[in-house]
Amino acid sequence: MRGDEPWVREVFDGGLTARVFRIHAAGRDWTLKKARARAGVHNVDGQTSFLNEIQRRADLMRLKSEPGGVQRFAGIVDTQYASLRRGILLSPWIEGAVAQTWDERSLGQLFEQLVELYLAGLFEWDLCPGNILDDGRQLMLFDFGYMYRFDPLTQFNSAGDGTSEPMFHPVERFETRNFCAWLLEMEQKQGASAALAAFRREKAVALPLYERLRAALAERAARPAMLARFDALATRWRAALRGDAAALYLAENWRAHVLDLSDDLHGQSCTPMTLRRADWLLATLREHFDALVALAALFGPDRGRSQAELLADYQVRRRQAECFQSMHAGGGGASLPA
Ligand SMILES: Nc1ncnc2c1ncn2[C@@H]1O[C@H](COP(=O)(O)OP(=O)(O)OP(=O)(O)O)[C@@H](O)[C@H]1O
Ligand SMILES: [Mg+2]
Repeated sequence: MRGDEPWVREVFDGGLTARVFRIHAAGRDWTLKKARARAGVHNVDGQTSFLNEIQRRADLMRLKSEPGGVQRFAGIVDTQYASLRRGILLSPWIEGAVAQTWDERSLGQLFEQLVELYLAGLFEWDLCPGNILDDGRQLMLFDFGYMYRFDPLTQFNSAGDGTSEPMFHPVERFETRNFCAWLLEMEQKQGASAALAAFRREKAVALPLYERLRAALAERAARPAMLARFDALATRWRAALRGDAAALYLAENWRAHVLDLSDDLHGQSCTPMTLRRADWLLATLREHFDALVALAALFGPDRGRSQAELLADYQVRRRQAECFQSMHAGGGGASLPA
């Protein structure tokens, strides 16, 4: 495969670990993912992501072959063939495009799928827009380079020893990597109340699915701490949905933009969106610092610091984000806390 063969219909060359070809064969379209000789991501997770994806593909095909598996994993692409040695992965071509809008149907399908994966002991870290395709009827996941195994009965996720990072959970991953950037765009184009309404809709879809997840974990005798985490999340979301959810909006968006900003700075992969995130954080610090403290929304090293200290710190980060843009125009990269 060079990419100029007559059966090649499209080439996606932007990925850091692989080249992706849309090919036509045996009367239908396929996606051939071909590993790059050397991954463009300079951390262990990136360098091993093709191997990891092949292992996850095997897990997923096993799950799909269980009774009811096809329905339970309807949002997971099939794997026709995969070989680490040959560096290729073949899947059916998925019709559709990167999800542009999030409604009850697409959010419901995504969260249902993430809950199934979670219960099966698979944690997906990279729910960025480019990793979710939607044809208007069925949402599909197909990139599992940063999906890892964990034990949902004793661990929160696959980070650290499984109990060290309770902050990360499926809905959080979607908000941080994807939805909160979409909300930011909405805030700026359609105003704060439209964004708040979309946020409420998202939580209203997520809440019953997390209640179901919690019940399934309880049924399987998960450790109390696992149940307590989902109880705490559900209690918080339920209270927010009884009111206007503005406080929760502030806290969740703060977390999402802080995490993604630091990811972009780490990977030196800043874009104009990174600057908009930094501006949102600075404006929120100026206008809502007391609310952030009251909500216990400040986390990590930010907790306990003064407004002036935080403003100075985030101004430095904004300037770093400006530098990385001019140095790496057009560059992309993912460094995930897995
Ligand atoms: N089965 C598929 N059907 C349709 N399009 C696909 C399929 N698989 C991949 N693509 C397209 O190819 C792009 C890259 O695929 P994928 O995300 O698997 O590769 P990647 O190298 O891991 O990319 P990145 O590093 O950017 O996440 C996707 O964003 C999507 O547009
Ligand atoms: Mg991808």
